[in-house]
Amino acid sequence: MVLDNRLFFPATERNRTCIGDLLSTIPLKGGSILEIGSGSGEHGVAFQKRFTDITWQSSDPLLIHRNSISAWIDYEGLNFKMPQPLDINVEQTPWKIPLELKLSLQAIISINMIHIASWNCTKSLFKESRKLLKIGQYLILYGPFKIANKHISQSNDLFDKSLKMQNKLWGVRDVEEITKEARKNNFIQEELIQMPANNFSLIYRKIA
Ligand SMILES: C[S@@+](CC[C@H](N)C(=O)[O-])C[C@H]1O[C@@H](n2cnc3c(N)ncnc32)[C@H](O)[C@@H]1O
Repeated sequence: MVLDNRLFFPATERNRTCIGDLLSTIPLKGGSILEIGSGSGEHGVAFQKRFTDITWQSSDPLLIHRNSISAWIDYEGLNFKMPQPLDINVEQTPWKIPLELKLSLQAIISINMIHIASWNCTKSLFKESRKLLKIGQYLILYGPFKIANKHISQSNDLFDKSLKMQNKLWGVRDVEEITKEARKNNFIQEELIQMPANNFSLIYRKIA
């Protein structure tokens, strides 16, 4: 019998503090944050504990990940605060979003997802975020990115090659390409912030 479905993604221990610090600089007025591609759920519970006035709504298309997220919520005693994960595959649109979340949504975040998915997933992420977010609200991406179509480190270059060997549709994305997609969906790139370990945070704001 499986007693505990928690998965452990080591990178989440290394990056949760700096991502949390970044989130703390974004003006959020309570409500909910929707996380796309939550993975193990370790970020979700960490941020739910850190930001007590918001509701952290995690999601993932994989059942094994959603089970892990539920197990982490349980383990951290957050059942009365944090909702169960949603089954969202960015490409399957429209996303099935409960009305309560639609009404309380303040921002959408996706951490280390768009390079492990096809480019179409990035397109869908912006299209659906446009429908769900109100003017002035944020879509936040975190991960490795190319700048001016160039890798910022040799390790990112190697990582990109290893991704493409696993799946030719995957790969480290270029910030300018992402921002073009953002503009098509009425988002502007508000900030590009260098983070530890050759990662960036990209903050987009809906302007119309
Ligand atoms: C590298 S993991 C990152 C997980 C977590 N955000 C983290 O930083 O530890 C990528 C995640 O994206 C999810 N993912 C992949 N394709 C997706 C899609 N089409 N829609 C939504 N999530 C997806 C995977 O299931 C996985 O949980």
